[in-house]
Amino acid sequence: MCDSITSYPAHLKAPYATEDQSFRFVVELWGGTLQIPEQVAFINQLEGPTQFKGRIDLQHPQHKFWVIMVVAPELTNGLPKVPARYYFGREVAASDRSIIKRYELPSRRYLGPTSMEAEMAFIMCNQAKVSRGSLVFDPFVGTGSILVAAAHRGAYTFGADIDMRVIKLGKKDGGGSAVNVRTNFDDYGLPQPVGLLRADLHRLPLRPGLEEVLDAIVCDPPYGVRAGGRKTAARDYTPRNRDTHIPATDPYQLGECLRDLLDAAARLLRIGGRLVYFLPAIPGYYSPEEVPAHPALTLVANCEQVLSTRYSRRLITMEKTAGYDTSAAEAYHTASGPPR
Ligand SMILES: C[S@@+](CC[C@H](N)C(=O)[O-])C[C@H]1O[C@@H](n2cnc3c(N)ncnc32)[C@H](O)[C@@H]1O
Repeated sequence: MCDSITSYPAHLKAPYATEDQSFRFVVELWGGTLQIPEQVAFINQLEGPTQFKGRIDLQHPQHKFWVIMVVAPELTNGLPKVPARYYFGREVAASDRSIIKRYELPSRRYLGPTSMEAEMAFIMCNQAKVSRGSLVFDPFVGTGSILVAAAHRGAYTFGADIDMRVIKLGKKDGGGSAVNVRTNFDDYGLPQPVGLLRADLHRLPLRPGLEEVLDAIVCDPPYGVRAGGRKTAARDYTPRNRDTHIPATDPYQLGECLRDLLDAAARLLRIGGRLVYFLPAIPGYYSPEEVPAHPALTLVANCEQVLSTRYSRRLITMEKTAGYDTSAAEAYHTASGPPR
């Protein structure tokens, strides 16, 4: 790392190296602890390579430089080993990591087996550029974990789920009180979703022709490991009692579900709006062609999260870059064949 800093172009280091600049170093080790004397020894090694001539200010430095070391393969918990890595960089902005503790799942009263971890829900919202005033839709809302993160960012939220129990009934918490998606928002003092629908993504009951109304769609589709997808059964059935009737469902294959998801995003997002979702993958067999495409959407990022030696999932970020064109979408789907 010291060699890289030494060989980093001098004109790029110069703006931070003059005598009138104050700075400090922060050293962090992932997967272990560094005692203060070890940190100081490490920092002392940086003096030569950085050539900083300014004043060290631990309280209010103009520039903060981070050294992050990842050197703990034993931390990987059975996952593929992480090679030792060293990062050095200037802090340009800092996130508020205290929110991870505040929103962590064990502190929630309404949880399900697939509730999205708080840190990941915030990462998903960052990828989707969710900000104050955004309108964010999760078509697989479950316990609302992703929308809770979006609401914390100041977004208006809107969710749907095929499971009426999730949307309407919820559960009883340890003290016997009724809890559901809505109480999760109340418990954090967040504004309620603007809408929660019992709806099947395969037959989204939105007005035909409704387009370009959402800033982001952020979701974790059902993909079978813990919660397989269902879609409204094709058989024509007229309910005797519309208030209590729960429609029959059929299995919803992942390929079909993702095609519907991309098509809904291509229709409902504004230009520049983003779709962020998780795609399951098997390390070793995965190939980038597995990531579904759509003529109105452009892939922005595809990041792997390794879950075990056998499973991983990929956080896919797409941006709407063209208006929805029904015939272009149909031609594209016909050319790519039935969803797999
Ligand atoms: C992986 S879970 C999402 C969990 C959610 N992110 C949370 O934090 O609780 C998938 C959800 O999709 C719902 N689902 C399955 N098929 C669906 C469909 N066709 N349309 C809408 N929701 C569906 C399931 O009921 C389940 O709640």
